[in-house]
Formats: sequence, structure tokens, C-alpha cells
Amino acid sequence: MTSLQDAKAPANEVVLEAIGLTKHFPVRRRLRDLFSSSEKKAVHAVDDVHLTLRRGKVVALVGESGSGKSTVARLLAQLYPRTDGDIQLHGESTRVKGGSAFRGYAARVQMIFQDPFASLNPVHTIRYHLTRALQIHGHAGRTEADLEAALTDLLGRVSLTPPERYLDKFPHELSGGQRQRVAIARALGARPEALLADEPVSMLDVSIRLGVLNLLRDLKERLNLAILYITHDIASARYFADETMVMYAGRMVEGGDSETVTQTPAHPYTRLLIASAPDPDRLTGDLDPTEEDRGNGEPPSLIDPPSGCRFHPRCPAAMPRCSTDLPVPLTIGDAPGHWAACWLYDVPEGAGK
Ligand SMILES: Nc1ncnc2c1ncn2[C@@H]1O[C@H](COP(=O)(O)OP(=O)(O)OP(=O)(O)O)[C@@H](O)[C@H]1O
Ligand SMILES: [Mg+2]
Repeated sequence: MTSLQDAKAPANEVVLEAIGLTKHFPVRRRLRDLFSSSEKKAVHAVDDVHLTLRRGKVVALVGESGSGKSTVARLLAQLYPRTDGDIQLHGESTRVKGGSAFRGYAARVQMIFQDPFASLNPVHTIRYHLTRALQIHGHAGRTEADLEAALTDLLGRVSLTPPERYLDKFPHELSGGQRQRVAIARALGARPEALLADEPVSMLDVSIRLGVLNLLRDLKERLNLAILYITHDIASARYFADETMVMYAGRMVEGGDSETVTQTPAHPYTRLLIASAPDPDRLTGDLDPTEEDRGNGEPPSLIDPPSGCRFHPRCPAAMPRCSTDLPVPLTIGDAPGHWAACWLYDVPEGAGK
């Protein structure tokens, strides 16, 4: 299938879906613990995550450091085996381990990392990186001329033109933004349907972040890509993503269309994120300053996560049940698809909000 044919696939078609996705990393036990009867410990990095990536749409995954965002991306890229749950590609359950099955999966689902310098090999030129990507996925053509045309096309797609200026350079000879464009071009060399972008602009200079996000948006539209956009920065999610999901301590706490989630956040954690984001036209949240103080605590241990709602120890609105009952996703307001996993919204029918 060529990328042009891909682009004709219907928009909104589900490409990749996480269903109850869970990852616990076992904690290595110290020698003396081996002789005790203590339970095996694990880092509960991701628990019961549901996520749907559709063609031509960007989903932002937002949360503070350690909340499990990269783990979700790595699970979706099949770089880690999952502990539980399912990953479906076009409705089919997938579990891929190395070899040609992994290559087949990677041809459809590509990842872009935060640090383009680390993801490119310093001893190889841009030509080498892109040629390898084309060859691995069988898109290098038969002749030298085919390959040159494919390389020119890839660099053109990420606006690195003329190609001669870039092809024979080494990664260190490019700027950070140019390197990230090369990493994106390399991902496109597989002609994927989905891109998993793990903080793709957070290492870049502020002045060029927008250019790279605009490039990703342009690619999403032209190639009808499904994009997962991982970020700390909820303001950029509003700008760039169709849908925004908020993650706290390994669990999804809120989701909906980006405008609604960022303008009328429901979960106290999302409100806290927005209140602490340096967004010039952010809403003036209704958290009073004393409440904010309470919210500024430390993220919890994921080895022994808080019971009930994982946010309850930091939550300005915590109620007794929040420390015992795990909140379920509840529909919020009138915006379709807006939900929050928060007991504040568990109101009896007709009781109002
Ligand atoms: N390979 C691993 N082995 C053990 N624990 C891990 C591993 N990878 C991640 N973790 C733990 O899982 C949790 C989630 O990590 P993850 O990297 O997914 O967070 P993140 O949201 O991407 O954070 P950041 O914003 O800092 O990138 C953290 O507590 C982390 O220490
Ligand atoms: Mg991360």
C-alpha cells in the first residue's frame, strides 16, 4: 500500500486502540527480601488505560512527569510487553515480539522520541538514516534514481529543501529542529498509519516548537495520519490536538475534545495542571490559593499507589469515599465525549451539578 492510497482511507477510521492497557514493572528484590515472605513489588506505571487513535486526528496525552505517558507510547509501539489489556490494530488484537512481526507492526505504527539527537546515530549521515528506513520497509525502489526520488520526497515532506543541503550532513551539523524533522522523515519512510510522538518538541527551542507542531499537523492532514501527541504542556494540547486525555499516576482521569477539556476542565487534577500552565489566555480557575497549595504536593509512589482515587492525597476537593473507591469515568456536561473519573460528578439523576 502506498502512502497516497493510505491518504484516501476514510478519516475517523479507528487505527489503534488501547483497551484496559496495563503495565506493571517488577521491582528487583534485594537479597535479604528474597528470604522474607513479602509480596513481589511492582511499579504500577499504567493501569487500565483506554485510548483510541483515529485517522486524521491527534490525541494528546497530558500529565506530569512519571504519570506513565511514555510507558503508554512504548506499549502501543510494542516496545514492551504489556501486563494486561489489549492493543488492537484495526480491530485486531496484536501482540508482537521482535523479528518480522515487529517490523510489520512498525511499518504501520511509528514512534518519534523527545530527543532527536539521541535517536539519530551520530556516525551516520541523513542519507544513511533515511535510506535504511526506506529499505527496511521496502520503499527504496529498484534503482538509484528511485531511491533518490524517495529521499527527496521524504525531505520535502518535512520541509527540508533543497534535499542536497541535508542528505550528506551528519546529525550534529543540523539544528535541533532540523534533526527532529529528519526523525519525522525517517518515521514517514515506513509509510505509517499512526505516529506516536513522545514529547516531540519539548527539547526544542521555544521559537521553533510551533513550526514542528505545524509540520505534524500538516502531515496529519495530508497523509491522514493518526497521531498520539504526548506532552507536559496542556496549552499545546489545546492548540494542536483534537482530543485531550489527562493522565495521573498511571491512570486516565479526564478526556474529551481539547477545547472542552482545556476550557472547562472537570477533574481537580486537570484544573491544577491548567492553573500551573504558563498559558497567557488560560482561564482563571476557580481553585482558591489555599486549595492550590494543597494540590502542589508530590506525585505518589507507584509501587504502592494511593487507594481509591490516586489523586486524593493531593486533591483540594477530596471526600471520604475518594480514598476508598476507585472512581469510574463519568459523563460531564453537554459536550459529547467529555468524561472525568471523579466522584465529584457522581450526582443522583435530577440533583443538578
Ligand atoms: N523500564 C522501566 N522499569 C521500571 N520502571 C519504569 C520503567 N519505565 C518507566 N518506569 C516507571 O514507570 C513510571 C512511569 O514512567 P513514564 O516514563 O511512563 O512516565 P512519563 O509520564 O513519560 O514521565 P516524563 O514526563 O518524565 O517523561 C515511573 O514511575 C517510572 O519510574
Ligand atoms: Mg516520558
